[in-house]
Amino acid sequence: MLNISNLNIYFGHGSEKNHALKDVSFEIKKGESFGLVGESGSGKSTVLNCISGLLNHWQGTIEVDGEVVSQKRDLAFYRKVQLVFQDPYGSLHPRHTIDRTLKEPLAIHKFTDINHRVEKVLSEVDLGSQFRFRYPHQLSGGQRQRVAVARALILEPEIILLDEPTSALDVSIQAEVLNLLQDIRKERNLTYVMVSHDLAVISYMCENCAVMSQGSVVEMISAEQLQSGDLSQNYTKQLFTASKGYDRAAIDLFQDF
Ligand SMILES: Nc1ncnc2c1ncn2[C@@H]1O[C@H](COP(=O)(O)OP(=O)(O)O)[C@@H](O)[C@H]1O
Ligand SMILES: [Mg+2]
Repeated sequence: MLNISNLNIYFGHGSEKNHALKDVSFEIKKGESFGLVGESGSGKSTVLNCISGLLNHWQGTIEVDGEVVSQKRDLAFYRKVQLVFQDPYGSLHPRHTIDRTLKEPLAIHKFTDINHRVEKVLSEVDLGSQFRFRYPHQLSGGQRQRVAVARALILEPEIILLDEPTSALDVSIQAEVLNLLQDIRKERNLTYVMVSHDLAVISYMCENCAVMSQGSVVEMISAEQLQSGDLSQNYTKQLFTASKGYDRAAIDLFQDF
């Protein structure tokens, strides 16, 4: 469903030039949930931004559903591939009602039966129709992230790119939203690319994942390997230890890195 090969990108110029992605490659099957994990600044969001078309000065090959995508995307691409950001408060327009937020993509893509679709998607993310005419500030963090998921779903995409979708939420709410995302994926046979700095989230959500460090993929691992702790790279082992909570040993390990 998604095939990335030798993705490279640079930011800045001259001595400030930063090789932010170095030959990043991975393949994701339809219906699979694929994780991108790594420390802050390792390039995870940049990968998603290249795939989604938010960045367009990358080099390499991005193939979606068997078709090579160019730097410029058409409307059909944006219908197929949707992005959910970490901070739903920042990504929802503060002065637009949920209704307006959900209707906007439908209007751009010239959908009909708009009201019906809004009702349907709200119930799919377990928000009743009473939320329809509220504003983002009248919702909790978890409810706002459900709206962001609804907005991504409303165009019936095939791939959803999730950039730390639950990192800004309390742990209990985080679990609710992750469960919701899993249910929706199974129901709609969606393909996910999910970014997280938290290996515990990735091992719960994903079948496979790429471990990133300083712009490169340093290891590819399956969820089984993650659960058993069968990891080859020191860096991944450190992330694994950190995901089990911090103790003195974990902190010492990171100081050695
Ligand atoms: N738009 C941008 N302009 C300049 N540098 C950027 C931009 N986006 C990301 N970077 C740089 O690319 C690197 C990777 O960032 P990012 O993908 O956001 O990491 P992550 O999501 O893993 O925390 C960092 O060094 C960051 O400073
Ligand atoms: Mg990021």
